[in-house]
Amino acid sequence: MKVTVVGAGAVGASCAEYIAIKDFASEVVLVDIKEGFAEGKAMDLMQTATLLGFDTKITGVTNDYSKTAGSDVAVITSGIPRKPGMSREELIGINAGIVKTVATSLIKHSPNVIIIVVSNPMDTMAYLAHKATGLPKNRIIGMGGALDSARFLYRLSEALGCPASDVAGMVIGGHSDTGMIPLTRLAVRNGVPVSEFLSTEKLAEVSEETKVGGATLTRLLGTSAWYAPGAAVSSMVQAILCDQKKMFPCSVMLDGEYGLKDICIGAPAIIGKNGVEKIVEIKLDAAEKALLAESADGVRKTNDLLEEATA
Ligand code: 2OP
Repeated sequence: MKVTVVGAGAVGASCAEYIAIKDFASEVVLVDIKEGFAEGKAMDLMQTATLLGFDTKITGVTNDYSKTAGSDVAVITSGIPRKPGMSREELIGINAGIVKTVATSLIKHSPNVIIIVVSNPMDTMAYLAHKATGLPKNRIIGMGGALDSARFLYRLSEALGCPASDVAGMVIGGHSDTGMIPLTRLAVRNGVPVSEFLSTEKLAEVSEETKVGGATLTRLLGTSAWYAPGAAVSSMVQAILCDQKKMFPCSVMLDGEYGLKDICIGAPAIIGKNGVEKIVEIKLDAAEKALLAESADGVRKTNDLLEEATA
């Protein structure tokens, strides 16, 4: 199976590396616009093959989408990352045009491709990819919730003093510093609700730390994170290529689910060989429903900027 990763920057290269190490794809093509950059990253990664024991073939190409032909899955990480103090939404002016061009270039050579959008502002970029390509809505997925949930579980395991493998839970809503909804009510420690172990105040703190998880790392690193984003999107690629029917919170085009239409926003979805196999409508309480409605308003505000951003 063939995967294209557009953008050989830190997130794209990490994604390619994790796909290779997990060895579930026969080929990964890294694409970048910077002359030789993708070729160099691919070569460096291939030189780990005998050390890390994988057979996946990674190649790099500079802005030549013919080499991506026949891709089963394509990951769009291209565009600029945010700097300390910036919101993801501020990137729309530059990233919207890039994502539109990349998405339409991909489908020219891979008409059956499933696209996973990582570029920010991600919910709006996923929405743009739907509109720009006209692909069936199950074949465009935004990666945000998988990453935000990983950050949520990291914070929960820290607060609980337990291994990360002991906790499970999800973050839904927009992939933004204000729009994320860590579902603390449904999170568990080995099947036991975390509210049995942590106070309401502590859970609120965990929730707030999760929402700014990306911004915290951008402040520490001087640019946005790459290891966890790369790992999160590689796990979604694996779910598609291995038809895992795994449930991820991801940015999916809603058509009435959760009372929302014509919007891409983080919701639980079963991911398998057809991309979004099913959107799962979990029971939300009144507070969660209100937060989701508020989050959707925020995403729509950013979507409203698309026309100008892609003019
Ligand atoms: C993050 O939160 C890049 O949006 C991504 O790190």
